[in-house]
Amino acid sequence: MEKLVDEGKVRFIGVSNFSVRDLINAQAVLAKQRIVANQVRYSLVERTIEGGLLQYCQKNGITVITYSPLATGLGNIRAADPEGVLRRVAEAACKSKAQVALNWCISRENVIAIPKASTVAHVMEDVGASGWKLQLDLARLLEERMRYRRRGPFEIGARRAVRWGMQMIGRWQ
Ligand SMILES: NC(=O)c1ccc[n+]([C@@H]2O[C@H](COP(=O)([O-])OP(=O)(O)OC[C@H]3O[C@@H](n4cnc5c(N)ncnc54)[C@H](OP(=O)(O)O)[C@@H]3O)[C@@H](O)[C@H]2O)c1
Repeated sequence: MEKLVDEGKVRFIGVSNFSVRDLINAQAVLAKQRIVANQVRYSLVERTIEGGLLQYCQKNGITVITYSPLATGLGNIRAADPEGVLRRVAEAACKSKAQVALNWCISRENVIAIPKASTVAHVMEDVGASGWKLQLDLARLLEERMRYRRRGPFEIGARRAVRWGMQMIGRWQ
């Protein structure tokens, strides 16, 4: 990857789904460049990276690019929100539910989001998620009243082992 930067083919080095250990190991073998971004899953309902990875990236100037910031669809956020907190917060902030969910992600230091949208209307709506700040009491409501998942080290390790196993099987086919 450093060779690609030297040749001017890419400007910066970014990675995806790297743990803190992966980032440390990868950075250690880079002679000149530093890792500038890590693309990971993060949303109102999937907050595993708050267990340490988010803080490590913030401390080391690594931009967190959150994928699935709408939990792959608003229906999945609704399922974790039986009290309808997101709708209430969206009404109070005069924004849409998607805009609030995205704004919550990008309000974190050094975090940006890459929602997928397949209609112009959704793209336009999602663009409107930036350029404003949710009031503290509304943000607190989202954080305290919505259900979310934060995987522990054992579960993270097990998932990585399964993914690694699948990749190995793929290579042998
Ligand atoms: N690095 C990785 O391992 C990894 C893994 C997964 C995904 N990604 C990337 O992450 C990006 C997005 O993640 P994702 O597709 O998993 O999930 P996402 O962005 O959380 O959710 C996409 C869903 O949200 C809907 N949506 C978008 N804007 C909306 C709006 N304003 N109102 C209502 N619904 C809205 C989309 O509907 P419509 O399609 O109808 O607009 C789509 O069904 C993609 O670019 C993907 O390539 C990366």
